[in-house]
Amino acid sequence: MTRILVLYYSSYGHVLILADAVAEGARTGPGAAVDLRRIPETVPADIRKSAGFVEDDAPAASPANLADYYGILFGTPTRFGLMAGQVKQFIDQAGGLWMRNELVGKVAGVFVSTGSQHGGHEATMQLQSPTAEPM
Ligand SMILES: Cc1cc2nc3c(=O)[nH]c(=O)nc-3n(C[C@H](O)[C@H](O)[C@H](O)COP(=O)(O)O)c2cc1C
Repeated sequence: MTRILVLYYSSYGHVLILADAVAEGARTGPGAAVDLRRIPETVPADIRKSAGFVEDDAPAASPANLADYYGILFGTPTRFGLMAGQVKQFIDQAGGLWMRNELVGKVAGVFVSTGSQHGGHEATMQLQSPTAEPM
């Protein structure tokens, strides 16, 4: 059994649609056991409501969960040319896993949704420093 995590953040539901499709595709892999998990929200409820965020009651992941998977697919909307702050905050909590080499050797991929055609997909997908060792 190959455990795959599809891990996403979505404010307005576009990345959620992508994440569902990515998980569906991953499930067709032989021996794949795929979990679809959202990255926890950090925006206060009153701002979510006034900004029209879609409420997502999918199960949330915690940074410690990253160690449990062979492959991780990260999904994020573009926010001013970069990943959503929720995604960065989640990854920044994985320092302990990084220190213990628990992310070494994992397979990773990313998927991104922007509002415009050249809205920053490439920069958004730089989920790590180009000088860092691959996860
Ligand atoms: C604060 C904010 C910043 C954004 N910045 C960009 C951007 O730099 N480039 C772009 O093309 N779209 C930008 N967008 C649009 C979103 O990336 C796009 O609508 C995305 O599909 C939303 O995904 P979601 O529905 O999963 O939240 C921005 C949206 C918000 C709310």
